[in-house]
Amino acid sequence: MSDKACGEGNLSFIKTHRLLLIAVVLATVAPGVAQAAQAPGSERSGKEVVDAVCIRCHGPGTSGAPKIGDKVAWGKLASEGLSSLTEIALKGIRQMPPHGADFTLTDTEIERAITYLVNQSGGKWVEPISRIKPPVQRTGEQIVQARCSKCHEKGLNGAPKIGDRDAWIPRLKDGLDRVVRSAINGHGGMPARGGMANVTDAELRDAITYMFNKGHVPEKTR
Ligand code: HEC
Ligand code: HEC
Repeated sequence: MSDKACGEGNLSFIKTHRLLLIAVVLATVAPGVAQAAQAPGSERSGKEVVDAVCIRCHGPGTSGAPKIGDKVAWGKLASEGLSSLTEIALKGIRQMPPHGADFTLTDTEIERAITYLVNQSGGKWVEPISRIKPPVQRTGEQIVQARCSKCHEKGLNGAPKIGDRDAWIPRLKDGLDRVVRSAINGHGGMPARGGMANVTDAELRDAITYMFNKGHVPEKTR
């Protein structure tokens, strides 16, 4: 079967599917639920999804599921590429249930889970960034004041200071996406998500932009 034909045939399916999922996610977030552990519109990391859902079969290798850590099996799968594997995981194949049998998972969460499975098995994929915007998004400034300023105001443990372009520019040289990912995962003295469990990827992006621009770009023109 031609991979290309198969891929294109399913593209519109994936697109409608994604919109539907976003609609469902937005519709099910009631105001009172907003303070729950998972912020509205935030998506779980690949590790969280795998630990909660996929590990059940991909840990022990149930019904022939490629095991986590099986470099040969996942190396072969990885060569098919993330979008192709995501399509298959969404639709299901033989004993692999559609969506890993959890329909609360967004497409991005499935992509992240696959990325994590591949990376636990010798791969070096980069976890995709969330495309969901929460219904009520806090501004970058609000996030920074609530959390990031604790370390980034004074430059604690080498944290790049707010508004210190010389400190930020080298970190941003490979693009904003890379730093957003870095802030999601954390490293060194920088805790994952700055230690703010419910901050969404979109909010992190705005917070970083704010820390970069503070004192340089008037707030209104941002
Ligand atoms: C109920 C058991 C089960 C669960 C839960 C499950 N899988 Fe699977 N998965 C399988 C089995 C079995 C296969 C092997 C299917 C085959 O090729 O026959 C598989 C295969 C796959 C494949 C390879 C598809 C291909 O191209 O052959 C991917 C990717 C995958 N699973 C991802 C996931 C992700 C991501 C999750 C969690 C969100 C998940 N699976 C949860 C059983 C499961
Ligand atoms: C507990 C202290 C602490 C808090 C809170 C904190 N950071 Fe950091 N952050 C650091 C330190 C330390 C570094 C430098 C780490 C390094 O490069 O080794 C850093 C680095 C970063 C970087 C650069 C990453 C890179 O790859 O160069 C970004 C982006 C960042 N922080 C964003 C944030 C955001 C956004 C918040 C608030 C949601 C936040 N941080 C909260 C301590 C903190």
